[in-house]
Amino acid sequence: MSSRRDFLGEVWRWMGIGLAALGVGLLWKSLRPARGESREVELTPDLLARLSTGEGFASGGLFLTGTPSVPKALSLECTHLSCRVAPRPAGGFACPCHGSRFDADGRVTSGPARRPLARAVLEKRGDRWIARI
Ligand code: FES
Repeated sequence: MSSRRDFLGEVWRWMGIGLAALGVGLLWKSLRPARGESREVELTPDLLARLSTGEGFASGGLFLTGTPSVPKALSLECTHLSCRVAPRPAGGFACPCHGSRFDADGRVTSGPARRPLARAVLEKRGDRWIARI
């Protein structure tokens, strides 16, 4: 009799563990940003004029470099778990969440991230540039 009770206890225990794991998985999936979502950021003439100093700067989730006529933009979203990376005074970028580091071109110099920062696709529309990431 006791073995039947033990067996049912084990069944309930493993069902509880399975449901908890399923709940954690669903929560994780709902909190992570969906892959393949893209967004557009408008680079206004005022913003582009700041590039004439030769210094890069962060704006709208992007790090802008280049010149006003040929801008370049890197996404500041870490490729590990999507935290916002910050430009480092010594150059490159650092992620505050788990310590990934990227060089000035967005290449990974230390993990846990394995993919480089995304480079935005830039498109000129009139006197404005649109960055798509
Ligand atoms: S989110 Fe950047 S290192 Fe984990």
